[in-house]
Amino acid sequence: MKTIIWLLATLALVIVATGAFIWSGAYNIAADEPHWPLTAWALETTRNRAIESRSESVVVPDLDGEALIRAGAGNYDAMCADCHLEPGADGTEISIGLNPAPPDLTRSDIEDPAATFWTIKHGIKMTAMPAWGKSMDDESIWGMVAFVRQLPGMSAADYHELVESSGGHSHGHGETPAHADAAQVDVSDPAQAAVATVDRFFAELSAGDLDAAAAELDPQVIILEAGGGEHSAAEYLGHHAGEDAEFLKTAHQKLLRRSARISGELAWVASESELQAQHDGKPVTILGTETMVLRASKAGWKIVHIHWSSQLRN
Ligand code: HEC
Repeated sequence: MKTIIWLLATLALVIVATGAFIWSGAYNIAADEPHWPLTAWALETTRNRAIESRSESVVVPDLDGEALIRAGAGNYDAMCADCHLEPGADGTEISIGLNPAPPDLTRSDIEDPAATFWTIKHGIKMTAMPAWGKSMDDESIWGMVAFVRQLPGMSAADYHELVESSGGHSHGHGETPAHADAAQVDVSDPAQAAVATVDRFFAELSAGDLDAAAAELDPQVIILEAGGGEHSAAEYLGHHAGEDAEFLKTAHQKLLRRSARISGELAWVASESELQAQHDGKPVTILGTETMVLRASKAGWKIVHIHWSSQLRN
């Protein structure tokens, strides 16, 4: 009985003393004051164990695809480099003031991509590391994991080249182009740049700018349409492109539905749209479907395959 009373009294004292310590303001919360070694050890161990156990079930996709790495570069530069640095930078005004300090990702090897994915998606409590999963989809986060794996040892020139060619900061959830009001759009974030290429190709063709449209095509592009085929950019330009441009000049396109994804080096963009056009001087409505396959290259996405089909709507 006596022991129990003593134990309870000690416990009460500890609670009161802890409360008094918190209330007194004696603890220095300043970020520029380092943690006591014991606190630092406890925090780090808690973090490492929590991340290890929670990331065990994360399934890691193929992270070597150039397109995925490139998509990650633009997002990293826009959202992470202020804290985690870029090649050649020693520190930024933000990074030098943080406690815990953000690791310099241009110098740290990623050993466990599942843990890195989990950390980026969920963030780390009581540090400056945000939970990016609140604003980005998983594919975009994997893009950044793929990119930061390549970062150690990357030259500043290579870094900037990748960032420039990445299509920039892209993680809107299926942003819709201006002419796509009310369309059903399901475009993954890393596929946005490929979709932009498809839209540019269409705009250039409609404007009759065949040279610019040709620059979006891979020289070996295969175009299948209405039961026939053209097997290079040159063949298409010398043949159907002029007619298509002429037809599109008077047409008004409304996107109805679109899906796009990337996988490795390739992207596919499937679109269904409605065209209001003139045929023999009469207005007609045409339903068109289009599949485009694009390949990532140093100069951005290039169209390697197009399949068009259409029917008149009455
Ligand atoms: C405002 C600063 C800040 C920004 C912005 C930020 N981070 Fe962090 N990040 C941190 C801090 C601080 C830590 C370390 C937390 C700790 O020590 O527990 C961290 C930790 C990490 C880690 C774990 C590294 C390791 O070795 O344990 C990864 C990976 C990471 N961040 C990736 C990113 C990515 C990718 C982005 C951009 C989408 C990003 N961070 C944006 C501050 C930031």
